[in-house]
Amino acid sequence: MADNYLGKKMEDFLAGKSSAPKRTMNLAKIVAKNRSYRGYDNSFVVREDQLRRIMAVVPSCPSARNQQVLRLRAVLTDEADKVLPFIRLGGALRDIKLPLEGTEPRAFVVICSTVAEDKYVNMDIGIVAQTMLLQAVEIGLNGICIGAFDHQKVQQSLGLEYEPLLIVAIGKGAETIRMVEISEGESHDYYRQDGVHFVPKLPLDKIVIK
Ligand SMILES: Cc1cc2nc3c(=O)[nH]c(=O)nc-3n(C[C@H](O)[C@H](O)[C@H](O)COP(=O)(O)O)c2cc1C
Repeated sequence: MADNYLGKKMEDFLAGKSSAPKRTMNLAKIVAKNRSYRGYDNSFVVREDQLRRIMAVVPSCPSARNQQVLRLRAVLTDEADKVLPFIRLGGALRDIKLPLEGTEPRAFVVICSTVAEDKYVNMDIGIVAQTMLLQAVEIGLNGICIGAFDHQKVQQSLGLEYEPLLIVAIGKGAETIRMVEISEGESHDYYRQDGVHFVPKLPLDKIVIK
């Protein structure tokens, strides 16, 4: 038991009883904030410890037959040019070439597999990618999954032993993104209007089936 003010504060802090307002964001809010960003604030440089913290959620992720075949390669700003030329962003926005100059993502986690790609490997990849993105949001960062990239060129330029299957870009998002509810049959294509990126989403009652 601490008998002084600071000692007590430290005890409370370590016990999670600090009176300081907590920066809380519940999971639903994190998921809602976790939009796919295709433009980033390049004055913000993602640090190695931030990328490590994001990757640190992966060992706790579920894995089909618990095979844990995925391997991660962190790419920081100094190596970003080994990845950037080979990714494609915003394929549905035919009139814009993304990323806009000066807003490129400059940190990545490249997800590889030690075994040939199959449906279970791909399921593992999705789980791992989304979990890392949620962790990124929790620490104030943003990201996007990138499946459209030249696998061979990225493998060569990074000197990877395994084929890369998905890239997760990480950075400080510099876009305004809004989700908009759509009905069945309406276009799912995301679009931009007056500088806002709109993402059409089906509501829950259209997703849950009987
Ligand atoms: C597996 C996967 C691969 C993706 N690949 C790309 C990609 O190559 N380029 C891109 O611009 N967006 C890519 N995206 C992002 C989707 O376009 C995005 O999730 C979708 O437009 C919905 O937006 P939201 O993530 O903000 O909900 C990918 C998403 C997933 C899940």
